[in-house]
Amino acid sequence: MSLGVVRSQAIGTSIERRGTRARLRGDTHFAADLNIAGVVTAVVLRSDRPHALIREFDPAAAKSTPGYLGVFTWRDIPGRNRFGIINKDQELLVERKVRCVGDPVALVVAETEEAAQRALSKIRVVYEDLPAVFDPEEALTDAAPRIHEKGNLLGRRVVRRGSPEEALKHSDVVVERTYTTSFVEHAYLEPDAGLAYIDHNDILVVHASTQNPHYDQKDVADLLGLPEDRVRIIQEATGGGFGSKLDLNVQGFVGLAAFLVQRPVRMVYSREEAFLATAKRHPLKIRYKSGANRDGRLTAVDVTIIGDTGAYASYGLAVTSRAAVHATGPYEVPNVSVEAIFAYTNNPMAGAMRGFGVPQMAFAHESQMDLLAAELGLSPLEIRRRNALRIGSQTATGQYLTASVGIGATLDAVASRWEEARVEKQSTRAFVRRGVGIASMIYGIGNTGMQNPSTAQVELGRDGFVTLYSGAADIGQGSSTVLVQIAAEALGLKPDAIRSVIADTAHTTSAGATSASRQTYISGNAVLDAATKLHNVILTEAAMMLKADRGDLELRDGSVFLRSDPGKGVSFKDIAERASRTGLPLKWQGYFDPDTTPLDPETGQGRPYATYAFATHVAEVEVDSLSGEVRVLKVTAAHDVGRAINPLNVQGQIYSGVAMGLGLALMEEFHPGVTESLKDYHIATAADMPAVIPIIVEDPEPTGPFGAKGVGEPALIPTAPAIANAVADALSARVYNLPMNLERVLKAGISVRSAEKEKSCQGY
Ligand code: MOS
Repeated sequence: MSLGVVRSQAIGTSIERRGTRARLRGDTHFAADLNIAGVVTAVVLRSDRPHALIREFDPAAAKSTPGYLGVFTWRDIPGRNRFGIINKDQELLVERKVRCVGDPVALVVAETEEAAQRALSKIRVVYEDLPAVFDPEEALTDAAPRIHEKGNLLGRRVVRRGSPEEALKHSDVVVERTYTTSFVEHAYLEPDAGLAYIDHNDILVVHASTQNPHYDQKDVADLLGLPEDRVRIIQEATGGGFGSKLDLNVQGFVGLAAFLVQRPVRMVYSREEAFLATAKRHPLKIRYKSGANRDGRLTAVDVTIIGDTGAYASYGLAVTSRAAVHATGPYEVPNVSVEAIFAYTNNPMAGAMRGFGVPQMAFAHESQMDLLAAELGLSPLEIRRRNALRIGSQTATGQYLTASVGIGATLDAVASRWEEARVEKQSTRAFVRRGVGIASMIYGIGNTGMQNPSTAQVELGRDGFVTLYSGAADIGQGSSTVLVQIAAEALGLKPDAIRSVIADTAHTTSAGATSASRQTYISGNAVLDAATKLHNVILTEAAMMLKADRGDLELRDGSVFLRSDPGKGVSFKDIAERASRTGLPLKWQGYFDPDTTPLDPETGQGRPYATYAFATHVAEVEVDSLSGEVRVLKVTAAHDVGRAINPLNVQGQIYSGVAMGLGLALMEEFHPGVTESLKDYHIATAADMPAVIPIIVEDPEPTGPFGAKGVGEPALIPTAPAIANAVADALSARVYNLPMNLERVLKAGISVRSAEKEKSCQGY
């Protein structure tokens, strides 16, 4: 797939993200902004019980509401009332029982939102409450109420190599701790929204805020009993997703309603509904035992992970595997035993959220590294250097790393700030302590040990312009811009000269989900494949037209020039015109599927990912030991992204990752019925943001498009553990539970103060 000579310099330049100006001007249309003649509104009646049978359902009183158009239950669903990305365990409208607060019971359609809400309030539902379970370990006991017919075990993933028990027995130091994390809400700026109608070709068209248009198409078609080509999904501008917009949220409801009432139907979640009804980050309980020898090298880890997937699986199995595979962090560990067990409970559904379980695991393995360093008398930086994966290392799943292992480079990149910050940290006020923490991460790009291909097309039109067709949903992270840059580089064009058609199932083929930090690497490669094919066809045509040798030609700015006679050339437009006469195809398809193998079910050994991103963050904090307040002053964040296609975009991902990681570290904790909206669920604001110093490390990935890997999720992963290690440094006491809220920090601080007091008393 090697390219001929091109001159473009589209790669490595911080061109403006597509659509930025429209967003700044407020001209961008999000799904909630769409309005078409005759549109009506659908709302969902949701359960207020965590686990209950529906005994009676009486919509009679709703029907007299002015503007009423219909109340629908599972009986009205024409196709298969089952969906879910991996496990088909969700019902669009529940049939017999509700499994969590917020479960959808009925769909109400009316002329206006107000009328729909009024009608909804008149529906009478009689529930028979069932015993409920809210703890995953309890859910796995025999006495627990059964949430799904197949039982409460979602799944289990084991990773095993070497002799961990033996190795731990013979290690010089062993550290064992238990860590917990909480449910976390994605809190994207744009609550879920969609609009559906049946077009003049009898196609059900759904405009939606989504990460996953081609999966949506399949699920909506199955729910309605339609062939896939009768459903079209158009992704509208999407104001963040972070994993939760991988699930079918509004798409099925608006699709069903439009199908049943034969009118255009819109649905826009309120903030409260987005909080109540969409997926959360999985809370994990991680028991972590690590061993090391006096030389500072890790000998073994033994890890047990308990995950709570709530009432439905969503991406729970992906999180189970990813958490287990990433349990050892970016380190060489010769002896490994990891077991991840995920259970259903009557809690809110947990699904994909930026990092798929790795942020939680990094909190545990990075706390362990600092504890081991303290035991061994090594600096936290040094213990990471001694154990960092390198070329030739084997991962916990037995995969040999052969290239682009930039963890050492990210440690080097933050080292000077780390050393300076250690010197600078001196408390200025009484009771306010400064701390510095370091944390690293590894993140496998793409889905875990399974096929996850992408396709794309690049076309030279008769007008001489190139168009990129990609199904990759840009949810604000900038993939549309990056994919255009890749096509531009391959064709010698300026990115501005390329048109794009993105994420519309009628005009683009599947790029897979915008998920797992995979679009730059996987869809980027598919685009490069397509553009390279077009490049070669253009070269062949030009060689014929110019009667020149292919090797003497170069593509530049929409023309092909002779290198030996730069004044002589032929334009893309001339080539396209000739090709249209001769019937030469000018729309080419590209394909890429990363080179992985499935994990062995018994041992977890295999090649789950084709490439890995690496990162290290240094956090500097101030802790008020009287109030428990933590202020993050500065985060220095070094990321090995392989190659930054658009450096400013990479920096943008790092800023947003730090913001989200700070929330995960200090404040975010979702409690159903308590944290109902942003007024009582706190995310980091501009006022909480530290100075962020992004450092881009480029250790090129040979299989990546121009060397690129990914950064979307990695950006977030080291932040919370770096802050945790900084807080521990400040307090000389550690918090083992996320978030490190005021109470937890205060409690840790108090135990230190009383220990100090005791010590000073003993001194007298
Ligand atoms: Mo993400 S958790 O891959 O949307």
